[in-house]
Amino acid sequence: MFVFKAAVVGAGTMGGEIAQVMASADVPVVLKDVDRKFIDQGLEKARQVTEAQLGRLVKKEKLTQEQADAQAEALLGRIHGTTEYEGHFGDVDFVVEAVPERMEIKQSVFAELDEVTPGNAILASNTSSLSVTEMGEATTRPHKVCGFHFFYPASVLRLIEVIEGDETSEDTMQSAANFAQQIRKQPIRCGEAPGFVVNRILNSSVSEIWRVRDEEDLDVEEIDRLVTESKASPMGPFYLADLLGLDTVLHVAEHLRDSYGDRFYVSSAMKELVEAGNYGQKTGKGFYDHG
Ligand SMILES: NC(=O)c1ccc[n+]([C@@H]2O[C@H](COP(=O)([O-])OP(=O)(O)OC[C@H]3O[C@@H](n4cnc5c(N)ncnc54)[C@H](O)[C@@H]3O)[C@@H](O)[C@H]2O)c1
Repeated sequence: MFVFKAAVVGAGTMGGEIAQVMASADVPVVLKDVDRKFIDQGLEKARQVTEAQLGRLVKKEKLTQEQADAQAEALLGRIHGTTEYEGHFGDVDFVVEAVPERMEIKQSVFAELDEVTPGNAILASNTSSLSVTEMGEATTRPHKVCGFHFFYPASVLRLIEVIEGDETSEDTMQSAANFAQQIRKQPIRCGEAPGFVVNRILNSSVSEIWRVRDEEDLDVEEIDRLVTESKASPMGPFYLADLLGLDTVLHVAEHLRDSYGDRFYVSSAMKELVEAGNYGQKTGKGFYDHG
């Protein structure tokens, strides 16, 4: 299946950039959210990423500024922001759902998508940890439902985990892997194990940093500084968690602890922040103040 038109539902931390990735591979894309202000934030994110990418090419003298401006305009023109399904979803081939990591929200979005998209469209989820099988149960086409898990920042990181639910057909898995390549990403196929591949590996190491921080009441900025200086990672785990969204990171950590036991640790400092409504960069405050 070739994807002529795609859609992204949820224009938050991930959605705007996922739409930008698709548009930069010449795929027209609809970006839907519940409120115009979230659409505007998603479109602004897509614009910033595009300008940064093209700006680098201008700096290397591979493009003139005029060519870069024209390419940016064409690329951003392929993203259509909307708060409505009507008039936009009747001809999409592939949808990526990127709404908050809560099963009841995912299932209601999948039920809506089942109603408004053509029967042959693939309905995929960017979930970091939840069951794709359960999302498929909210539709009349569970064989057309799979996971399609990008990594933050989606415009930079090339990997996509294509996740097979109990009912996902082979044809859907192959089409999703093909679409990942169409948008210049590297797909890997995963079973529906908690954390899939990457978060299971990543969280097993970051868990230990969270555990030591809590047990010894260490300073998060100091830990981040040491990790960055050691060049083990481009940024420290607490700053990174702020960028990813503490609500999402906490949910994944809890899911891994519930699935695999105490070898996966849930940061109590993070839990307190989330309970107070501080989700990191997207709310302005987390482990750091983001202004
Ligand atoms: N943040 C990350 O680093 C990251 C990385 C990979 C995968 N994910 C996954 O991507 C998904 C989205 O995460 P995020 O960090 O972008 O979340 P977010 O909270 O930043 O954004 C979610 C967006 O969905 C919108 N939304 C809520 N209900 C909706 C509905 N019914 N219809 C349309 N839009 C709706 C919200 O208004 C918000 O703009 C989650 O499943 C998460 O686990 C996140």
